[in-house]
Amino acid sequence: MAGQRICIVGASGKLGQYMVAQALDEGYEVVGVCRPESVAKLAHFDDRLRIVPGRTNDRAVIAEAVSGCAAVLTVLAPWGVEGYATGTAQAVLDFAPPDARLIFSCGWHISLDGKDRYSCQLKLFLALFGPLARLLRIADLNDQVEACRRIFASERRWTVVRCSDMEEGEAEGLPIWREHVGDPALAHNRTRRIDFAHFMLAAIADVALERRAPAIASRVSG
Ligand SMILES: NC(=O)c1ccc[n+]([C@@H]2O[C@H](COP(=O)([O-])OP(=O)(O)OC[C@H]3O[C@@H](n4cnc5c(N)ncnc54)[C@H](OP(=O)(O)O)[C@@H]3O)[C@@H](O)[C@H]2O)c1
Repeated sequence: MAGQRICIVGASGKLGQYMVAQALDEGYEVVGVCRPESVAKLAHFDDRLRIVPGRTNDRAVIAEAVSGCAAVLTVLAPWGVEGYATGTAQAVLDFAPPDARLIFSCGWHISLDGKDRYSCQLKLFLALFGPLARLLRIADLNDQVEACRRIFASERRWTVVRCSDMEEGEAEGLPIWREHVGDPALAHNRTRRIDFAHFMLAAIADVALERRAPAIASRVSG
């Protein structure tokens, strides 16, 4: 709701910047967390955005940033092999105010109940990219899995938004969502990043999404 303070963790990334812009437009007071080397990416927001610089898995940084926030929107990034996403999620779960809405971003590969049905293409990608990225110490998809396992086990007011493949471009409207990947309505497997950001923000006020992991895709199927 306009006037409320919210925190965006991972504010300097592509998704993060869309969320900051939309949140400011909607009248929220916004606190952003990003790595110190990325603060300059947020310069165009001027003094409309309060930045708390630091790694998003730094518990002191998160404790400071989420103080007094009605909602925390967190970009879960699988980068590195030191449990960055897990540390980030745990800090948010531990330090956000008790009634805060906690919205997390991830991809379709995360499953809440194991009932998702994946395409051969996605299974192949995960089978190849997962081990290779870990071997090269670039990313660890299991880190996002562990982060989400902890979120799903929590009693907090969480939503994990699971996005299809993403693309840049003009907004197409609020994405549609389904309980499971594999639903025919999601088969086109694409979402504009700007619309993903819109869904993350809209989830703040959507109580129907609490303790759920919506799988989203563009409302335009073509
Ligand atoms: N890319 C896809 O196709 C896709 C598909 C479905 C879902 N998703 C989900 O969408 C969300 C955002 O994805 P995105 O592709 O748009 O990325 P993004 O918004 O650009 O976000 C990447 C985040 O990771 C941080 N980051 C980059 N390198 C890092 C490193 N080495 N160590 C720690 N943090 C690092 C970035 O911070 P800096 O600004 O400091 O670099 C930024 O906060 C993620 O939750 C992702 O799982 C992505």
